[in-house]
Amino acid sequence: MIVANWKCNGSKKMIQDWLRQYMDTFISSTGTYVGIAPPYMYVEHFLNLINEYGLDIKLGVQDVDKSSGARTSAISIDMIQDMDCKFTILGHSEKRVIFNESNENISKKLDIAIDKVDAIYCIGESAEENNKNQTKDILENQLSIIKGKIIPSSFSIAYEPVWAIGTGNTPTPEDINDIHKFIKDVVQSSTENNIVPTVLYGGSVNEANAESFFKQNYIDGALIGGASLEGKSFANIVNIFNGKNL
Ligand code: PGA
Repeated sequence: MIVANWKCNGSKKMIQDWLRQYMDTFISSTGTYVGIAPPYMYVEHFLNLINEYGLDIKLGVQDVDKSSGARTSAISIDMIQDMDCKFTILGHSEKRVIFNESNENISKKLDIAIDKVDAIYCIGESAEENNKNQTKDILENQLSIIKGKIIPSSFSIAYEPVWAIGTGNTPTPEDINDIHKFIKDVVQSSTENNIVPTVLYGGSVNEANAESFFKQNYIDGALIGGASLEGKSFANIVNIFNGKNL
């Protein structure tokens, strides 16, 4: 599973250029879940072009609100389904830090979204927490929102250490692998149906380091910010995931 998170980037021209590069670079392969989450404004435009070009890329969003109605600026789950979005990212660290998103609020959003679209729940520790060796405690706390719940197999987790996002720094592939194993164990032992989730890694993934991550047993894919903004590099990462790196 390889997912692009465009954050607050994009324009109609950028989408056109991105798609041209993606189609020039992507080596066809079946089965891999490839998703892109542009800003809400561009979902329909992107989807129309993907359908026109016959590409196997799912459209999704970067967040969804917990209900509809008198909630100025919010986007509801029914709206994103209406616009043919297949997934939503939830709990991204930029939402937690810049927009003060709490575990409690994310939990409500997750409850609404989880049976309707594929939910990708982001978790990760800050640099300070990492330095204090608190990573596992922080992750367990963030994972507590799914405790005791029945979680569908479409659910996945993105492990994104905050200090690795957009910085060019990453944990070693082996360290990420260990953390992913830990996440899978925590989710399996704490959910009602003992689900073992797909776990993506996010944080400065690019064409040069992707292979080292994908070789690890417990790294099931990636959530990609910066390197997803160019169709060529994103397609190359998908190719690497599919074992088609030349
Ligand atoms: P990055 O962002 O790939 O630019 O580090 C990842 C993310 O925030 O999901």
